Amino acid sequence: MNKVVAEHQGYLMQATDATIQFGGLRAVDSVNMNITAGTIVALIGPNGAGKTTFFNLLTGIYTPTEGEILFEGRSVSGKKSHVIADWGISRTFQNIRLFKEMTALENVMVGRHVRTKSGFFGATFRTPSFVREEKQIQEDSERWLEFVGLIDNANDLAGGLPYGAQRRLEIARALATEPKLICLDEPAAGMNESESADLDRLILRIRDELGITVFLIEHDMKVVMNLAEYIYVLDFGKLIAEGLPAEIQAHPAVIEAYLGQDMEATIKAKRQQLLEVRGAIAAPATEPAPAEDVEVEKPILDSDGVVMAMDTDNKEKNDAA
Ligand SMILES: Nc1ncnc2c1ncn2[C@@H]1O[C@H](COP(=O)(O)OP(=O)(O)OP(=O)(O)O)[C@@H](O)[C@H]1O
Ligand SMILES: [Mg+2]
Repeated sequence: MNKVVAEHQGYLMQATDATIQFGGLRAVDSVNMNITAGTIVALIGPNGAGKTTFFNLLTGIYTPTEGEILFEGRSVSGKKSHVIADWGISRTFQNIRLFKEMTALENVMVGRHVRTKSGFFGATFRTPSFVREEKQIQEDSERWLEFVGLIDNANDLAGGLPYGAQRRLEIARALATEPKLICLDEPAAGMNESESADLDRLILRIRDELGITVFLIEHDMKVVMNLAEYIYVLDFGKLIAEGLPAEIQAHPAVIEAYLGQDMEATIKAKRQQLLEVRGAIAAPATEPAPAEDVEVEKPILDSDGVVMAMDTDNKEKNDAA
């Protein structure tokens, strides 16, 4: 075992002084963070704190300008997103990214292709092994839809599904890559109380039944406090606190930065923003509104024409703009 792996044994993910600088802004600033396998860990903090950017570092969308992030002892720096997905990290996005003109089942099948072998040749000539594999992919994908409670929507277009269902579909697609670590970026955003309670149960089942480690960004404190076993708090790119939920709730720096006097106003503003987003999406069922929040992405194909990943780059640039 090499030195790096030995040093980081025991942690599934370890960030050491992880930093990314955009011009003068250190969006993630010297962050140290450990995730133990089998836990549910939350990352919280005010808007613009650097939470999504940290996910982007972890999943290969950005490369740290300083420091390092290790997954099972291997550095993610400079690795492409599909390689990191192959290592076992998958994610969902703050702004839902589904192929909305494809069915729910097809969306999950795209995720499943990360774990398959038949390349362009097999697909073009529909070799027996390709046909077998395709059938297997479909069956596996149906199981993931079942797991998240969407099997009855398998043939519905993703873009026409209610908002909460789209969020769960994204989770199914992420699970279909068979991750060791699933990163969920505000999965409860825009959900009503009952959808959010369903989501809590789903996240617990992901850890308890599938043994997948969960890394969760969430503004909904009820969800965070219900689920997280350990919490990291970011503010202006810096880690300002970490600890057990009870410790975080009582932490002076957190109260000041996030849960303090402005808590009510912050939550109110966030809720308003999410309801607006939701309203735009939940509009008429027959003709889905052009929801700004729902991104249609193009798959990135490898040289064999196999879908390797989503085209996230453009979106991230737009997000930043
Ligand atoms: N590619 C980029 N170029 C320049 N600035 C960026 C880029 N990506 C993120 N930022 C900036 O980094 C900061 C952190 O953004 P980030 O999206 O990570 O925040 P967040 O904690 O996820 O907030 P929210 O709760 O609103 O989602 C913001 O000031 C954002 O504008
Ligand atoms: Mg974010």
